[in-house]
Parts: sequence; C-alpha cells; structure tokens
Amino acid sequence: MGSADVQACCTPFYEAVLDTMAVGVGTALLDAGCGGGFALQLAVKRGATVTGLDACAPLLDIARERVPGADIRQGDLESLPFAEDTFDAVTAFNSIQYAADRVAAARELRRVAKSGARVAILIWGAPERCESRVILAAIGGLLPPPPPGAEGPFALSVPGRLEELAEAAGLVPERADEVPTPLIYPGLDTAVRTQMSSGPARLAIEHAGEPGLRRQPPARRQLPPGQRLPVPDRPGLTS
Ligand SMILES: C[S@@+](CC[C@H](N)C(=O)[O-])C[C@H]1O[C@@H](n2cnc3c(N)ncnc32)[C@H](O)[C@@H]1O
Repeated sequence: MGSADVQACCTPFYEAVLDTMAVGVGTALLDAGCGGGFALQLAVKRGATVTGLDACAPLLDIARERVPGADIRQGDLESLPFAEDTFDAVTAFNSIQYAADRVAAARELRRVAKSGARVAILIWGAPERCESRVILAAIGGLLPPPPPGAEGPFALSVPGRLEELAEAAGLVPERADEVPTPLIYPGLDTAVRTQMSSGPARLAIEHAGEPGLRRQPPARRQLPPGQRLPVPDRPGLTS
C-alpha cells in the first residue's frame, strides 16, 4: 500500500483531468479528498505545487509519503482551511459525492479557487457501467450508517445532477467528459492491496475492522463468469 504502481491502471483517469486543468510547472493545485495522494504525486511530476486535504488520517500518511514536503491536511470538504482565491486549480476525485452537504463542499472548492481558475469534480460512472459499483456494494454493509437523508455515492452519476450541483454552488459548468478506466491489475494481490487502501475500504476498516472487510466475498464473484463491466468511471466536470 502506498506505492505509486498500485494505482497504475487509474493513471489515465487522473492524467486526463490534470491535462484538462493544464496542470504544469508552478500550478498551485488543491486536491480536495486526496486520499492516498496519487493525483498529487502525478501533479508534482508535472512541476505543480500541491496541497491535499482529506478526512482519513491513514490515507494522509500515504499521501505524505508520496509527496514529501507537500501541504497535506486533515479536514472536511465542507469547511476547507484555506483562504479564498488561493489555488490555480482545484480537483475533487471521487470525494464530493461522500460529503454530507455536497453543495456546501462544491461552494468551498469554488471559494478557494482563484478567480477564473478551473474546478474539476470527478464522480463515479453510471452504476450499470461502473466496476467500482460492484466493490462498493460488497463493502457497503460494513460502512457506518450514512448521515440522515444522504444520497448514495452514485446519486451524482445521474445525467444532469453534476451540472445542477455545480450551478447550485455558483460554478459555471464548462464541460463534462467520461474517462474509461477499466480496473486491470497485474495480479489478485495488487488488486486487493489497492482496493483495501481506497477511501471507502479504509472507512469500512475503521468501522468494522480489517478481518470483517477481508471476509466479504470477492467482488468478482458477483459478476457472471468471464464478464467484465466495460466502462467504469464517468466523471468530470470542469468549471
Ligand atoms: C473514493 S475515495 C477517493 C480518494 C482519492 N481522491 C482518489 O482518487 O484515490 C474518497 C475520499 O474522500 C474522502 N472524503 C469523503 N468525505 C469527505 C469529507 N467530508 N471531507 C474530507 N474528505 C472526505 C475520503 O476520506 C476518501 O479519501
């Protein structure tokens, strides 16, 4: 856990967003809900100055290993500890859908972005085409109860919902794209290690303990033999 190669199959997803955001030398980037810091690591390779924030302390430890010296903070998406007009680019990779108040979280992304800077909000693809859905369903019963009235992690994946959220937060939707990201790993060990270090898995471990998570039936058994779900992650709205 914590080495860059374990998230290699998702690299095109992150790179596509960093390209769209024109992240390069000198860009001041905030990744809100940075988890283990993989996107931050890719941005640093481009010469960006990165800041990461997440609620999950064990994932932040991994992020600090990946991007030594970066400003990595524990905090809440709905109340970012940064001044307004601070960042040249703000990203939220599959994190905002977990906030109790998503509009408040999106407003915070807008507040800390400099005037005219882009904000990218990434969400899961439509559930019927998203491999992560199978994994999230497998661990769902081990997660703490969601806040009252909370919608599931795929609510924003309904066409038009992300744009509505952006507008409610004062962002101006510019474009929405899909980035196909098939989850292909070199072996089962790598797949398990990677998935065990995901945000939802860490939350399940904190709530139910690691043995509970490992006892869950492998997600792949929930698919018909030999079948793969073709296109997982839909995301992307930049503003
Ligand atoms: C699916 S993970 C994605 C992590 C990372 N962005 C990535 O692409 O690997 C969701 C992340 O959002 C974080 N998160 C969820 N709700 C949050 C909140 N209200 N404030 C801060 N972080 C939050 C979780 O701790 C987790 O790391």
